[in-house]
Amino acid sequence: MVDTNLLLMIPGPIQPEREVMKVMGDPVKAHYGSEWTEIYNLTIEALRKIFNTQGDVFLMVGSGSCALDSCLGSAFSTGEKVIVGVNGFFGERLKAISDCYGLNTIIVESEWGEPFKPSDFEKVIQKNQDAIGVCVVHLETSTTIINPIEEIGKIVRKQGMCYVVDAVSSLGGIPLKIDDWNIDLCASASQKCLGAPPGLAPVAVGERGWEFIDRNKSKGHGWYTNLNIWRKFSKEWADWHPFPITMATNNVLALKTSLDSVLQEGVELRMERYRQLAIRLRNGLRGLGLNLYTPDELMSPVLTASYSYPGIPASEVITYLEEKHHIKIAGGLGSLKNKIIRISHMAPTTSEEDIDRVLSALNQFKS
Ligand SMILES: Cc1ncc(COP(=O)(O)O)c(C=O)c1O
Repeated sequence: MVDTNLLLMIPGPIQPEREVMKVMGDPVKAHYGSEWTEIYNLTIEALRKIFNTQGDVFLMVGSGSCALDSCLGSAFSTGEKVIVGVNGFFGERLKAISDCYGLNTIIVESEWGEPFKPSDFEKVIQKNQDAIGVCVVHLETSTTIINPIEEIGKIVRKQGMCYVVDAVSSLGGIPLKIDDWNIDLCASASQKCLGAPPGLAPVAVGERGWEFIDRNKSKGHGWYTNLNIWRKFSKEWADWHPFPITMATNNVLALKTSLDSVLQEGVELRMERYRQLAIRLRNGLRGLGLNLYTPDELMSPVLTASYSYPGIPASEVITYLEEKHHIKIAGGLGSLKNKIIRISHMAPTTSEEDIDRVLSALNQFKS
């Protein structure tokens, strides 16, 4: 049975605001016509502000992986060499997507829980002068580590390569400046810091992103997530249906409601609110004798990880919180499975009281 009182504190999907979910239940609108096109375009405009870009933004119906698929599949051709950063589960996922497109994937690795050193990218690029692109995860959700996207971007641009960033869990929650940071293609998702339900995958493409896409129109990429197709429809059907598919209209309305709320609060103020929650949570966890997974200087403002109580698998803590306290937190992925717990504060609905509720529940587990 679904626990309707469950406090969702996992790193996506998050619990959207009430007004956002109300829109999901409104009568379904047609996905074409001038009225709908205006709503869609306003949503794209709001996304542009949050991506910090003057470039193009598309809204795919799908999850974050759909947006990533779209970026890699549209920009690169089978056999081309691409450098992928791997320091966690989602870096590995990025490599898997690259491999699936038959790209010649070269890895820059860093320990899980440690951010990349930009110089590591410099070294690998020097050794692979024929590489055409670099792909990096911004917030590595599996470890809570924020990678130095801006610094890596300077190196990538200097080499004239294509820079693809996975901002699935960061967009709207931590600073990200697509144009200023030399990002050519960027993928995100509706169900995390953007505060909406799962189902939509924003993709941003800058001028140079198009240059890479336009190099070779016959990439062997399919139709649905092919950015060439999305651009074609955004132009040819601009006044009534500026996308190639049946748009998920209620999801777009929900996302728009959520984006309006972020912009009304102010993106910086919202980010600061999340940061304060992170500090409250970290102090509280320390007070309970738990060891935080990252030192304070690597603190993520939207997601916190801590080791489990000594000798106790994280799954026991997670199950206890869900069954006894109606709080759902996440565990570790891959090699961190059963070692860490992850508590998300990337939802606009998350309050200080929610953080205190988690801390109180963890305290009762101990006693
Ligand atoms: C950084 C990152 N990249 C990619 C993904 C995959 O996104 P999705 O599950 O929406 O396809 C996730 C999901 O949590 C993520 O956190």
